[in-house]
Amino acid sequence: MTQAPTYQPGFGNHVSSEAVPGALPIGRNSPQHVPFGLYAEQLSGTAFTAPRSENRRSWLYRLRPTANHPAFTPYAGAPRFKSAPYNDIPPSPNRLRWDPLPLPTEPLDWLDGLVSYGGTGSVADQSGVGIHLYAANRDMDRAFFSADGELLIVPEQGRLAIDTELGRIDLAPLQIAIIPRGVRFRIALPDGQARGYVCENYGALFRLPDLGPIGANGLANPRDFETPIAWYEDSDAPCEVVQKFQGRLWTTTLDHSPFDVVAWHGNLAPCRYDLTRFNAINTVSFDHPDPSIFTVLTAPSDTPGTANCDFVIFPPRWMVAEGTFRPPWFHRNVMSEFMGLILGAYDAKEGGFAPGGASLHNQMNGHGPDRASYDKAIAAELAPHRIADTMAFMFETRHVVRPTRWAVQTPTMQLDYDAVWTGFAKAQLPE
Ligand SMILES: [Fe+2]
Repeated sequence: MTQAPTYQPGFGNHVSSEAVPGALPIGRNSPQHVPFGLYAEQLSGTAFTAPRSENRRSWLYRLRPTANHPAFTPYAGAPRFKSAPYNDIPPSPNRLRWDPLPLPTEPLDWLDGLVSYGGTGSVADQSGVGIHLYAANRDMDRAFFSADGELLIVPEQGRLAIDTELGRIDLAPLQIAIIPRGVRFRIALPDGQARGYVCENYGALFRLPDLGPIGANGLANPRDFETPIAWYEDSDAPCEVVQKFQGRLWTTTLDHSPFDVVAWHGNLAPCRYDLTRFNAINTVSFDHPDPSIFTVLTAPSDTPGTANCDFVIFPPRWMVAEGTFRPPWFHRNVMSEFMGLILGAYDAKEGGFAPGGASLHNQMNGHGPDRASYDKAIAAELAPHRIADTMAFMFETRHVVRPTRWAVQTPTMQLDYDAVWTGFAKAQLPE
């Protein structure tokens, strides 16, 4: 069944959707006879007994049960797609930065085009994150899912057409998508090639941050998240399904399409969000607030206020702080910061940090504006000015990000990154 994506607004809402009228059972989840002989199947994103406010699950009504598959065998592709624990090499305290990931010259789909830069935690313990980039130039003709975590996809260039079990999502740079753990999907590339970032969240599900004194509105507003409606394909053609399970990839081939969910209801589903709808809040007096003011989504840990992962953006905004050093300040952080750039330039770096590139500033290691940004900021006339045409982001995690061997051996890693913090004049005390 072909149809353009259509969406329902809201974050984590209970949605009911049917691609064929009458397919969705009414008033019960698992009737003795499901309409049209469809198979009822629950997809649990949290433990059955998770508190109601945290509980996420959906009921799927499909042509065949997911259980109807042959055994999985090890998958030999995606050689640069790695998983926690990232123990290949000792974690580096050094500030690391990378030039943009090159686009492939050989045919490569989104799955085989994944490249892990590093990560934290353990898939076995369901904590931490995997941090990946993708660079691809071929449509997937198979399905993939991660049993290890939900996927936050952040395109940098090239649109993605994402078919998921629960509906279709069109995604473009400056939008993000969340694919829940276990949900099968495939990605086509309407622009022929694509590049972007992925946070594989092994921990608690991403959610909207609390707003505290900000009030009931602001930052990412729930209504701007969009969940696709039910969509299915009725195909008996063989279809490969690859899964990531405990850090390794496995494959099997179904004798039908896995995208055969005719109706579903629940509050566990993929969604997308347009980052340009982010309601940025900042100072109207002085000082640069902590960058947590730009948190789009947070995946909490067991320690309140200390995230397994925050997804933070640095969007276009007005800078009006008086008597203030306006760029991000010098900083050492108990959290670790992996940054990427979707568009334009980042206000703490005059050069060297390009769209499709990345940087890593690990726990307790000093970072901040480069010397050129510093010099410019202390000389600036502090009129209101707008930072336009930019979109940087950060995956910030309580754990040290351990780079992969690939990440520290690739020629795109900048060997001279430390130099951006050299040449600062010594402060002069009074005689
Ligand atoms: Fe920082």
